[in-house]
Amino acid sequence: MNIDIVTLFPEIFDNFLKTSILKRAQDENKVRVRPVNLRDYSTDKHRSVDEPPYGGGGGMVIGPQAFFHAVSALRGKDTKVVLLSPHGRLFTQKVAEELAQLKHIILLCGHYEGIDERVRQQLADDDISIGDYVLTGGETAAMVVIDAVVRLIPGVLGNELSASEESFTMGLLEYPHYTRPRDYEGFKVPEVLLSGNHGEINRWRRKEALRKTLKLRADLFESLSFNEEDLILIREVVQEELERLNL
Ligand code: ADE
Repeated sequence: MNIDIVTLFPEIFDNFLKTSILKRAQDENKVRVRPVNLRDYSTDKHRSVDEPPYGGGGGMVIGPQAFFHAVSALRGKDTKVVLLSPHGRLFTQKVAEELAQLKHIILLCGHYEGIDERVRQQLADDDISIGDYVLTGGETAAMVVIDAVVRLIPGVLGNELSASEESFTMGLLEYPHYTRPRDYEGFKVPEVLLSGNHGEINRWRRKEALRKTLKLRADLFESLSFNEEDLILIREVVQEELERLNL
């Protein structure tokens, strides 16, 4: 997969791209990520890309010209141009899975007050927001998108998290993890995890994922379907939680 990031601040990606799984994925040619300076595509002699808004008001707006030139230089035949903005569709795991199938993505990062509407209307194939808040620019959002997408490219995650483990809790929050020591200052690791009984361990993990999701993100239940075993676990969780609350 190829990812180009069109930005006024390419240097912000330096350490991000040199770290951890993202670095390894690039070293192993699973992905190529290239920050591109928007100013390189300005036709202005001072490399300026922003102008005051038509109609007045404060701040500066990034004009269409440099973005259009950048995209026409970078676009191939299988390219999706994605604008990052607070107006876009919400970025979720499902959107990450969708993007992970693509060959080439160009991420467009805005900054300042915003970007000329023609970039959104005429240039972008997709518009993505990472949440209902306003960032100073699309760069940090681009990092979130790249992080979530690259880990889904086949072969990028080694032993960190197998696909089967992820599908085990698909759509749920993850079950709790523990490592040594067994007893930290009196806070103990659940016995079942030390039992070596993998059937029991899997049941416990599924149940705790259901418990966590029910307690913290019950809204996620609406888009999930459950089998008979899950329904038994959910009933057990509800019963235990009621007892815990003395209800
Ligand atoms: N740029 C500014 N705010 C943003 C957000 N919430 N998501 C994506 N890009 C943005």
